[in-house]
Amino acid sequence: MGRIAVLTSGGDAPGMNACIRAVVRYAARHGLDVSGFRRGFCGLIEGDSVELDARSVANIIHRGGTLLETGRSKEMKTPAGIAKAVGTLERRGIDGLITLGGDGTFRGASALADAGGTRVIGIPCTIDNDVYGTDYAVGFDTAVNTALEAIDRIRDSCQSLQRPFFVEVMGRSRGFIALDVGMAGGAEDILIPETETDVERLCRDIKASFERGKKCLIIVVAEGDEAGGVFRVADQVWQRLNLDYRVCVLGHIQRGGSPTARDRILAGKLGAAAVDAFMNGMTRQMVGELKGELALTPLSDSWTRQKQLDSNLIDLIKVLAS
Ligand code: F6P
Repeated sequence: MGRIAVLTSGGDAPGMNACIRAVVRYAARHGLDVSGFRRGFCGLIEGDSVELDARSVANIIHRGGTLLETGRSKEMKTPAGIAKAVGTLERRGIDGLITLGGDGTFRGASALADAGGTRVIGIPCTIDNDVYGTDYAVGFDTAVNTALEAIDRIRDSCQSLQRPFFVEVMGRSRGFIALDVGMAGGAEDILIPETETDVERLCRDIKASFERGKKCLIIVVAEGDEAGGVFRVADQVWQRLNLDYRVCVLGHIQRGGSPTARDRILAGKLGAAAVDAFMNGMTRQMVGELKGELALTPLSDSWTRQKQLDSNLIDLIKVLAS
């Protein structure tokens, strides 16, 4: 039937392993041979691969990280690197490459499809959830729940000492994690790259909340917020209100751990859908889920078009914090 390869690239996301498992087992069931390239495009360029069969992906469905490891390849951004990657695919007789990652991964995958004959399919796996063409990327739900658990714990200390907490969540250029964590965690406010941060207004709101008798205020800040990061924002608030405060940066804690049921299910569905897309002769497509239905999106759209964030939630978070 043919040979496909799979790789994981960019930031690891919980559920990548469940997705590799789905790709390998679904492909094997349909008579395809499967290789896995290690460390993303770095392994593809170097020809560092491993043969994968149904047994080699046993007992990984619940594990965070990625069995294949991942990488951020600078070489893949050069014509020479792309040519080496195409060379590996051609020498190994690989008919289809399934890439798991985010926008940077799909940019590289698109370049590969332009330069060679191997069919390329993408599966969105990134905690940032900033990929156009899918409502959810694999890993996002786990990251949100991990951050939420941390915020619930922070809330205990926040309430006890009546100090505002500024909590930084991941999200390099988009505020999807901050939005969901802010909503589910009962945040006072969220600061995200999509909206301009107004520190004067934030100070007025914090002051008014304390005057209304609130004791616990949690402000969720996306790491990519344009105001310059959580420490800078907190300091600006302190300079205006002279309030004792604490900062907590959740960082890579959000990337690890066992994937949630929702991420494992999405990983399984998208893994199978990617193999189906390959078997149906498709290339340069990303498989995703939109409004609960499987959806194919041109791979180039996944990183050139901007996914919309539900801005109504930003206002609702503030209303519900009253
Ligand atoms: O893209 C996922 C992500 O976790 C971002 O939220 C974050 O900015 C970045 O990766 C961190 O990357 P690294 O693991 O290289 O520090």
